[in-house]
Amino acid sequence: MSISECTDKPLDLSPVAAMVADRAPFSEGDVIDALQDMQTRYGYLPRAAMDEMARLSGVPVARLYGVATFYSQFHLQPHGRHAVRVCRGTACHVRGAAGILSAISRHLGIEDGDTTPDMQFSIESVACLGTCFLAPVMLVDDQYYGNLTSDKAVATLKRIQARDGAPNAAAQPAAQKGSAPCPP
Ligand code: FES
Repeated sequence: MSISECTDKPLDLSPVAAMVADRAPFSEGDVIDALQDMQTRYGYLPRAAMDEMARLSGVPVARLYGVATFYSQFHLQPHGRHAVRVCRGTACHVRGAAGILSAISRHLGIEDGDTTPDMQFSIESVACLGTCFLAPVMLVDDQYYGNLTSDKAVATLKRIQARDGAPNAAAQPAAQKGSAPCPP
């Protein structure tokens, strides 16, 4: 479910007009920059905002989605405050990445690709983080954690939760893939 489908908090599309107007005359060369603004504003690229940008800019919505899906920096679904990327590449796999991913999933109460109901954490398994010498490794936001075990990975998440003062997401019902509460 995208925020545009959320019934108790409709999406405010007014910022999209400014994203387009600030780049007038808007061209396809402005798409990446404008989508970065949109993601900063909403936390992801909501469908309704993509439609609005296409309408106001004249750039076909298919072109906007083409750019959004080409670059991994863009998210079409709501993401948590903290992005937990667990490497499942070969070097990490042979050192127990699957068990680490399972432990993280159990702790947060969500599956790979999902976001916790409180919007604090998203889990994403990736092919290689480029730090194979640290295997097994995960990346939380911009911080690498290497030579992991399941216990170390969970302890890392607990430290972040304690630092944030966030409730343990594991105590909450798991989010379904592609569903999320209305972001604030
Ligand atoms: S295989 Fe995990 S960082 Fe490269």
